[in-house]
Amino acid sequence: MIKQAIIPLAGQGTRLLPLTSVFAKELLPINGKPGVEYIIEECIDSGIKEIIFIISKKKEIIKKYFYNDKFYKKILKKNKDKRISFEYAKIKKYRKMIKFVYQNKPLGTGDAVLKTKKYINNNFFLMLLPDDLITKKNCSKDMISIYKKYKCSVMASMNVKKNNVKRWGIYSKLKNIDRKNFLIKDVVEKPSTKSAPSNSAVIGRYILSYDIFKKLKKQKKGKGGEIHITDSIRKLLNDGHKIIGHRFSGKYLDCGTMNGYIKSSMEISKL
Ligand code: G1P
Repeated sequence: MIKQAIIPLAGQGTRLLPLTSVFAKELLPINGKPGVEYIIEECIDSGIKEIIFIISKKKEIIKKYFYNDKFYKKILKKNKDKRISFEYAKIKKYRKMIKFVYQNKPLGTGDAVLKTKKYINNNFFLMLLPDDLITKKNCSKDMISIYKKYKCSVMASMNVKKNNVKRWGIYSKLKNIDRKNFLIKDVVEKPSTKSAPSNSAVIGRYILSYDIFKKLKKQKKGKGGEIHITDSIRKLLNDGHKIIGHRFSGKYLDCGTMNGYIKSSMEISKL
């Protein structure tokens, strides 16, 4: 069963500077609610019982958001406001599920995942990248159903514009399983338009096998001097691991760029 999820939150957020020079992008409001709460809700709704947040010392504000009891208690003592009580109760409910681990050097998503190794106690776990919001359909839940059927890793996929492939991990396909799912042959991190094997991109929902840690331990730095999860996934594929690409239903919102972030609030307010 997939009961644990990990969420890398230690990223520097350079695509959202200058906001991220003083603030954690994952707490920025999207239609009035921090982006990370949408991700937590997606986890809860898909049956996840424990969430591991990978933060950094520079992003302690995320932990504080969930552990600001003194502040709430003082306010609620004076003012029994229903809305504040409700929000405080919600935050307490969330934090019961959350463990915090630290990645203090910005060495990439692969390095962030490796930091969670000692907390993972199942053969498979879910990873959600908080820049990627998917509305209208719970992508994690659908991927867990696919995992249950095929008992293998699953990664979310979406077609992107050919001249935009260098923003994403890009798949090469082995064969289609059905209309929504395919077997992955290879995956390459942020290829050039010329070298990209397709325009089918990796979106930030992954069901990963515990075996990934063996590869991550030995993983050398790749594009941009970072340790990429994509490069270790590629090694698993080389070893013959079966990994399914899932073309998710639902609407993708890219909250990691300013343009996408602005659009996200508008899209979510329409729901
Ligand atoms: C990461 C992954 C990339 C994937 C993307 C999805 O990139 O490395 O393979 O396509 O998330 O959002 P990042 O957004 O950290 O640059």
